[in-house]
Amino acid sequence: MSSSSTSARTASEFGNPNLEPLFTGEQIQARITEMGAQIARDYEGRNPLLLGVLKGACIFLSDLARAIDLRLGIEFMAISSYGALTRSSGEVKIVKDLDVPIEGRDILVVEDIIDTGLTLSYLMANLRSRGAASVKLAALLNKKERRLREVQIDYLGFDIPDAFVVGYGLDFAERYRNLPFIAMLKNPEVTAQEI
Ligand code: IMP
Ligand code: MG
Repeated sequence: MSSSSTSARTASEFGNPNLEPLFTGEQIQARITEMGAQIARDYEGRNPLLLGVLKGACIFLSDLARAIDLRLGIEFMAISSYGALTRSSGEVKIVKDLDVPIEGRDILVVEDIIDTGLTLSYLMANLRSRGAASVKLAALLNKKERRLREVQIDYLGFDIPDAFVVGYGLDFAERYRNLPFIAMLKNPEVTAQEI
């Protein structure tokens, strides 16, 4: 076998030595159950539209939606962000827009992590300008030390330290989204191929 194919060997992805577990799947699920119950109480009698930010929020959204016992809708948008890098460029662009009008709707944006806040401050302002009845934010993780723009998080899973985290939808160079837990990447300089 050539050395380039050794990364496909049978070593466990979830047990990768470059990962330092931060939250277990059980801890995440318990927190999401609480968030969902709170959201169901707050939006009682309404029909909110959960708006997931691709791709990072897709796993969080799929669990959060099932924890909200209400009639609701699900839509997705894609915003350009880090690409293969671990730090934000500060450049924000809508890569995939909504397919439906949102006038008069109660929008609940669902995001994996708020870091500098650049992405979400842009997105929230953009959505508010489209005539939604309300625009709120549910985020699984918050790295508040790194904030450059103020963002109000209405429903938060966990505050975390300034570390690069992966799993549960969050990636490093498109890897690790499938981890059923959240981990800190010990050495972000190690490329996806090396470990
Ligand atoms: P912000 O605009 O700096 O707040 O960046 C938000 C986006 O950057 C998130 O939606 C993630 O896609 C990505 N991001 C920020 N921090 C991390 C991290 O620790 N791990 C993985 N992705 C991250
Ligand atoms: Mg994201």
